Amino acid sequence: MNSKVDEAHHLLRQRDQFVPRGIVNAHPLVIDRAQGSELWDVDGKRYLDFVGGIGVLNIGHNHPNVVKAVQGQLSKITHACFQVAAYQPYIELAKRLSQMVGGEVAHKAVLFTSGAEAVENAIKIARAHTNRSAVIAFRGGFHGRTLLGTTLTGMSQPYKQNFGPFAPEIFHTPYPNEYRGFSSDMALAALNELLATQVAADRVAAIIIEPVQGDGGFLAAPVAFLKALRKLTEQHGIVLILDEIQTGFGRTGKMFGFQHAGIQPDLVTVAKSLAGGFPLSGVVGRAEIMDAPLPGGLGGTYGGNALACAAALAVIDTYAEEKLVERGQVLGDRLRDGLLRLQARYPRIGDVRATGFMVAIELIKADAERSPDADLTQQLIDQARVGGLLVIKCGVYRNVMRFLAPLVTTEAQIDEALEILDGALARILIA
Ligand SMILES: Cc1ncc(COP(=O)(O)O)c(C=O)c1O
Repeated sequence: MNSKVDEAHHLLRQRDQFVPRGIVNAHPLVIDRAQGSELWDVDGKRYLDFVGGIGVLNIGHNHPNVVKAVQGQLSKITHACFQVAAYQPYIELAKRLSQMVGGEVAHKAVLFTSGAEAVENAIKIARAHTNRSAVIAFRGGFHGRTLLGTTLTGMSQPYKQNFGPFAPEIFHTPYPNEYRGFSSDMALAALNELLATQVAADRVAAIIIEPVQGDGGFLAAPVAFLKALRKLTEQHGIVLILDEIQTGFGRTGKMFGFQHAGIQPDLVTVAKSLAGGFPLSGVVGRAEIMDAPLPGGLGGTYGGNALACAAALAVIDTYAEEKLVERGQVLGDRLRDGLLRLQARYPRIGDVRATGFMVAIELIKADAERSPDADLTQQLIDQARVGGLLVIKCGVYRNVMRFLAPLVTTEAQIDEALEILDGALARILIA
């Protein structure tokens, strides 16, 4: 090997040879190491990481508290399998999550490995509790890549492809999108019509919703909509599941997205930033619902792995010590304001949206319909990378650039990212 550049090319060629095309790399890079909000590729080039492993690194890469906690756990036991015997970090984490989500009301938590697994199990628990089978999810929603996760997901490409037949008794209803003129009232009317024409409310086990759609385009459900959903689900004995896998752990300016609406969900799914980069997920919910499945009905060999639980406990402590939730709101405001300034100069940024530090821009064509511009979005992502900023896209039409920078990002790094974007936009739109 002559140089590190040769090494990157060599590795990417091997990647193409030995890894299927079905799993993509958003960026043609080979990562070497990372710290905080920065990472370096094998060529030694530094990038601002405003992807954070897709919302996994809210606490930043390699936070010293997480490293220390995992090292400590590593010297005791790495894996025991909770179904064989209990261990302290699992029990402690279940207690902390129950208190974080439920406050004074009795809650319980069960731990898994991936987000999709948490979603699957939330549905199992809701079905066991209600003895009903139907589930309502939202168009544009994303809930994972397992068969049920894919079925619940409300985006056809690339997630559904020809992977069917899908799980039965899953219904989709539109999610509010104020930028596109689809109001809360319109979404509620569509849901009521679904209940009148497709499936009666007393057959519905659960409604599952992201408080801010992640992959669907960083669209926030209006407070009135979430409140109306809570009322409707209470009226009909339907379990309300909030999928907080991307919105959780301080991303939206509160610990959980549902807290903006002042509602209390029945079940909450958590994953991603829960364990600072270690694979861990969970379902947290009202104790009597969580206890519905019979003994043996829930679990998984690696679920609640001891190392991941130790990491999660360190993550939760660090949030309190470093006031990361409050910090996220401050950073989100700064990034949003900077993007609004860019929008004033580049009208192809059709919308700037931010819920806390869950920030995105929607790129549009220069037509009266504000048509989604997926090509411009991809160009901007590529040009941002050239400038040293990593971001990814989302949205049903893939024309939304999303920012999931760690909550430990500095003001200087936000300003640097805005400058890089400015340069990228100028190269694409003015050059
Ligand atoms: C809201 C939401 N639910 C579920 C998932 C699936 O999580 P995982 O990829 O860990 O299975 C994701 C992943 O992006 C997500 O954003």
